[in-house]
Amino acid sequence: MGKLKLVLIISVLLNLVEGSRIINKTRRDPRPFPKGFLFGTSTAAYQIEGGWDADGKSESVWDHLTHNNPCRIKDCSNGDIADDSYHLYKRDVEMMRELGLDFYRFSLSWTRILPTSFPDKINEAGIQYYNNLIDEMLKYNIEPMITLYHWDLPQKLQEMGGWTNPHVVDWFADYARIAFEHFGDRVKYWITINEPREVCYQGYGSATNAPAISITGYAEYLCAKNLLVAHAKAYRIYDKEFREKYDGTVGISLSAGWIEPEAEKDTQAAFDAIQFEWGQYAHPIFSETGDFPPIMKERIAAKSAEQGFYRSRLPEFTSDEIEMIRGSSDFFGLNHYSSSILYKNESTAGIFEQPSFYDDIGAASYQLDEWPVAASSWLKQVPWGFYKLLVFIKEQYNNPTVMITENGFSTSTGLQDDARINYYREYLDAMLDAIDEGCNVSGYTAWSLMDNFEWMAGYTELFGLYEVDYNSPERTRMPRKSAFVYKEIIRSRQLDYHYEPNTNEMTIDEGK
Ligand code: BGC
Repeated sequence: MGKLKLVLIISVLLNLVEGSRIINKTRRDPRPFPKGFLFGTSTAAYQIEGGWDADGKSESVWDHLTHNNPCRIKDCSNGDIADDSYHLYKRDVEMMRELGLDFYRFSLSWTRILPTSFPDKINEAGIQYYNNLIDEMLKYNIEPMITLYHWDLPQKLQEMGGWTNPHVVDWFADYARIAFEHFGDRVKYWITINEPREVCYQGYGSATNAPAISITGYAEYLCAKNLLVAHAKAYRIYDKEFREKYDGTVGISLSAGWIEPEAEKDTQAAFDAIQFEWGQYAHPIFSETGDFPPIMKERIAAKSAEQGFYRSRLPEFTSDEIEMIRGSSDFFGLNHYSSSILYKNESTAGIFEQPSFYDDIGAASYQLDEWPVAASSWLKQVPWGFYKLLVFIKEQYNNPTVMITENGFSTSTGLQDDARINYYREYLDAMLDAIDEGCNVSGYTAWSLMDNFEWMAGYTELFGLYEVDYNSPERTRMPRKSAFVYKEIIRSRQLDYHYEPNTNEMTIDEGK
């Protein structure tokens, strides 16, 4: 082993020891959650609903991709039936009651509500489905939290360029208004868009998400600009037309991993990479100045000029757009799963294709083998990364209210999921450390209520507190051990590492 490599490994290990020390120093068992802290679980329409063409629903980009190119999905599966929640929503609500949830986060399917993509035809059957679900939840005091867009763009809009066409701003705003009009009387928590990075980079840059386009270094930046303007327009519509009568809150959910510098010399590079990875969405909304992060604007403009482009590959916002986007979220919706380590040196210049998003970042990252890994290879358990991320958000964006809108761990089939339990406990503990440091975290959402269609991984990576039997026509749902543990966390409002559930019978507690 080279001397340099040894030094790097030692410095990474020292960082890790430092990270775990932060967590251990404050651990109390059992450890209470703050008063008023909320617990929920999350799902998304395409991943659970099925009924892909039921009662007038039209095709989304995920229907299109899975039907036309089935084996782009690891097990050649699709979401045609998925968990069949389109028919089984009452059982879903029963599970929410079993867990004792305060709220449930789910998404609307654009093409179920607007089969033409536009407001000229509102599909009553689609509206009815969501009304039934919402009313069933409210009957048992479970607050609905709606995500307007969780990746299932109408295929027709994709054929017109999707998120790279600036007209998407109006298309999305019209759809948002219709959702606010129909459900705003009963729904107080709204999320406009789930994970812009995955929509833009994975959808238009790396082809790892529908519509599976790979025009990196260009298309994902056009998408980012349009998506941010669309989000802000929807937010302003709620503000102007609905807030006074309905008194709800509207935010956005950003996916953010923690990026740890490998050594002190990489501190700036790690900070810059964060600006590219998710700061490109957070900075325009949550910073005081708004707009894309300065490092992105400078770096992409300079590289574009070197590469022979006549203008920056990163589009500019107008000053009106900057103002409209700045402050356009009542809370910071945070989806967090894992962390990585980053370095930058001579060897990292020129390892990526040009132009590309990763060439624009110009650094390399990796995860350590000793971090426990989920069924998803990208998902390694690094709880101290969650702590550092929350503190970073507090410091960068003036301590916004943070709602954890997703966090979870995948396994394969089986009800004994101790690895998931361990992940949840460690991450909740790290979150409590961050709260002790003054981070303003108001709630936590476990991904996911039940197993579901895990996008390109199909049904091979399972995230559910409940296992779903995909061989049974009833899509039978069974609580995993983690469901019992999460239920006790919610019931007791504290984290107890020693709690061993009796998994014989799942019951519904009084009041639910
Ligand atoms: C997405 C979910 C997905 C989960 C696990 C998040 O990025 O919002 O739809 O299932 O991660 O990969």
